[in-house]
Amino acid sequence: MTAGRAWGITPTGPLHGDIEVAGSKNVITKLLVAALLGDSPTWIGNAPRIGDVEITASILRAVGAGVAVEGDSIAVDPSEVQNSRVPVRYSGLNRIPILMLGPLLWKLGEAFVPLVGGDVIGSRPVDYHLEGLRQLGAEIFLTDEGVEAKASHLHGARIRLPFPSVGATETLLLAAATAQGRTVLENAAVEPEVVELALFLQRMGAGIELQPDRRFVIEGKSALSGARQRIGGDRIEAFSYLIAGLVTEGTVRVSGCSQDRLVTAISTLRRMGANIEIEDEAIRVTPSTLSPISVHTSPHPGFMTDWQPALAVLFTQVPGMSLIHETVFEDRLGYVDTLREMGAEVELYDQCLGGAACRFHEGMWLHSAVLRGRTALVGSEIVMPDIRAAFAYVLAAAAASSPSVLFGVEQLERGYDQVSAKFRSLGLQIDELS
Ligand code: UD1
Repeated sequence: MTAGRAWGITPTGPLHGDIEVAGSKNVITKLLVAALLGDSPTWIGNAPRIGDVEITASILRAVGAGVAVEGDSIAVDPSEVQNSRVPVRYSGLNRIPILMLGPLLWKLGEAFVPLVGGDVIGSRPVDYHLEGLRQLGAEIFLTDEGVEAKASHLHGARIRLPFPSVGATETLLLAAATAQGRTVLENAAVEPEVVELALFLQRMGAGIELQPDRRFVIEGKSALSGARQRIGGDRIEAFSYLIAGLVTEGTVRVSGCSQDRLVTAISTLRRMGANIEIEDEAIRVTPSTLSPISVHTSPHPGFMTDWQPALAVLFTQVPGMSLIHETVFEDRLGYVDTLREMGAEVELYDQCLGGAACRFHEGMWLHSAVLRGRTALVGSEIVMPDIRAAFAYVLAAAAASSPSVLFGVEQLERGYDQVSAKFRSLGLQIDELS
């Protein structure tokens, strides 16, 4: 990765203010792909202004779709989709190309997508996506460059995911929505972002039911129409700014993301003693006396893995020993090296600390962290490796006692809407260095 654009961050003490979060990154990109299934245009509102939307819009245009972005609205016209191949130049940028397989197969009978990228937080295979598509009747071939797929039509099947993968559930919802017959998808992910995709597909005319036991039942339709939807607020962005308030001992009010998307986040922060006020329109944190806790990440409704890096920074400022057990991605704690350089006391372990064994218990992965606070953080020169670690580093830089330089601002902007403006509105000094 190149170092990219850089910011100088000068800590300014407690951060105070109001943040309106944008629509969810992990929803908008999926709805853009779903729009390809319609026989008429789709309109999506409350879209975040982030790099991943630009990349996804560009992927859609590359297969022939019309995509018009105007402020926070995006219109997609799928009528001219004629190219079944997502160009190799989109390899490694984000996780979206793999989701295109179903819609392209349905429209054109064949598809090629380059190998997926996304944040470097584990091996991130796509075997569940591909095995599920095979069960729906697709012929799949792996090449050096990506995935080739063929199917004159897809048919319904009973599929059980080995783990409730968000991406594989979405791939299979997108494919099963127009497959012939009924698909039953068991052990599916039920993250709010997945449910929002399912609701959008329902608006397009898809037959989708969500059963209480992580089971989607999808009745395939021969045609879907475009739909209009204003997407819900980003629960990762919301949590990130609540932590910005807590870690700097400021008061931050976050609006635009409903309480029900943050239930576990709120209960976890309250378990630490955080003062959190919940209103209809917003959630506010105020300076709090915090205690250490133990947290396990897990699929929804558990504590979300994407909240974990920001929480780790907060743990460095809490007196006592806190613990994180990461059970979703095997290699998501590498970012702590930089926190250590800034003064944090963190030890990583390959054991499952603090509770039940997870899928990684017999591996060598360092997936548990013990953090000892409160440690003074000092500014540092930091390269931002992935979206969530990048935000965590901004938080650490804001809580430090001296300035930092952060390289790779593009990573942050790939996932966070208007991030420099939002931090500046809270009082943080950010200087664009290049
Ligand atoms: C999505 C989110 C990401 C979030 C994650 C978990 C997007 C763009 N990204 O990522 O922000 O952290 O859900 O909530 O929405 N797995 C396999 N084989 C597969 C698919 C997944 O082994 O074919 C494993 C992964 O390696 C990982 C686990 O399943 O260990 C969960 O991954 P998954 O839920 O699929 O994450 P993403 O969809 O990539």
